[in-house]
Amino acid sequence: MAEVFISPLVGTILDSLNSWSLKGLELAGSLKTEVASLESTLTTIQAVLQDAEEKQWKSKAITDWLGKLKQAAYDLEVVLDDFNTEALRRSLHTDARSQVTSFFSLGNPLLFRLDMARKFKNVRVKLDAIAGEKSKFHLREGVGEAEIERNEDRQTSSLVTESEVLGRADEKEKIVSMLLSNVSHHDDLSVYAICGMGGLGKTTIAQLVYNDENVAEVFDLRGWVCVSDDFDIKRLTKVIVESFGGKSGDIQELDPLQRCLVEKLAGKRFLLVLDDVWNKSHDKWDRLKQALQCGQKGSTVIVTTRDEDIAVMMATTPFCRLGCLSDHDSWSLFKKRAFGMEKTGSNANLETIGRQIVQRCGGVPLAIKAIGSRLRFRSQESEWLRVKDSKI
Ligand SMILES: Nc1ncnc2c1ncn2[C@@H]1O[C@H](COP(=O)(O)OP(=O)(O)OP(=O)(O)O)[C@@H](O)[C@H]1O
Ligand SMILES: [Mg+2]
Repeated sequence: MAEVFISPLVGTILDSLNSWSLKGLELAGSLKTEVASLESTLTTIQAVLQDAEEKQWKSKAITDWLGKLKQAAYDLEVVLDDFNTEALRRSLHTDARSQVTSFFSLGNPLLFRLDMARKFKNVRVKLDAIAGEKSKFHLREGVGEAEIERNEDRQTSSLVTESEVLGRADEKEKIVSMLLSNVSHHDDLSVYAICGMGGLGKTTIAQLVYNDENVAEVFDLRGWVCVSDDFDIKRLTKVIVESFGGKSGDIQELDPLQRCLVEKLAGKRFLLVLDDVWNKSHDKWDRLKQALQCGQKGSTVIVTTRDEDIAVMMATTPFCRLGCLSDHDSWSLFKKRAFGMEKTGSNANLETIGRQIVQRCGGVPLAIKAIGSRLRFRSQESEWLRVKDSKI
């Protein structure tokens, strides 16, 4: 079952709705009311979205609900695009003459407002219905704190304890040999993407590759940057410089920051991991990529992302669509978590129930680890059965 992650999209839409009043577009009458209702509905949905996204692997109903929300959010995006096009058109034609002519054209402000109000209303009615269903799932609210926690939680680094990683040898080998062959064949910057649903182990594989001895040997510089959902070019340029051991001090402006980066990378073959990328803007990526073109032949960027569209946008080679952990590795991971050093043999039934629980985790390491830890040192069969039969 494919997971659905839409909080970045909902966040962008809300930002966009908020920014209209700032852009000075005449929001009046029914259009103003519709935009206010939309903002309010989306804000109530956003408050529980993170919890829904985290719990979806336990419940098909939540995934379906998120799927419906995603569709409605896409519909809203289309309406917003129309609106933004009109805003752009107006900002390009603000001289008096064009305002006179536009009254008789498709750009007539009153007709436009009425048309937009109708379109917003259609989407808002759908979103209200979706928001009404959320109470069924008993989701936790609290975007502010959850957001901070999530971002801190999501910080990653290049460190990994290899002995704790189960399987993935083939996947790692494939990426390593591709990197090593790129080094001698490719003149331009290569970008390799690893994509797959949340918790599948993309970051873990990137860590294994990053720390591989042969990889460490062929690259003069290696850097690891946890991008997450903030693709601000200045921030990224700064953290990339620092990830390569450079210093950017108090520099705040983009131009000197980019010069720092170029100085650091010039004549060097580098490997850069951009972990957990959510940015869909081709333009932003192009701007960052441009500054990374200064390395030596064979320089490579590895990207991890949940979103296949992002992998397609960024990758210059066929990307890796990460699969699930094998049954064997899934069970080993679960066993380690749930039983620690103890033998499962102390209660044979627990092993049978445990294997059924692991089946339900669909080879997603994050899920296996979480449930394994939850059952650690619990020896009551009834507790295990409850987990097996619950909508975990
Ligand atoms: N092969 C594995 N063996 C053991 N543990 C693993 C394995 N792969 C991943 N894990 C563990 O599962 C959790 C999730 O892995 P990871 O962070 O790599 O997933 P991800 O795909 O990057 O997720 P996200 O999309 O949220 O960034 C981590 O705690 C990681 O240590
Ligand atoms: Mg990750």
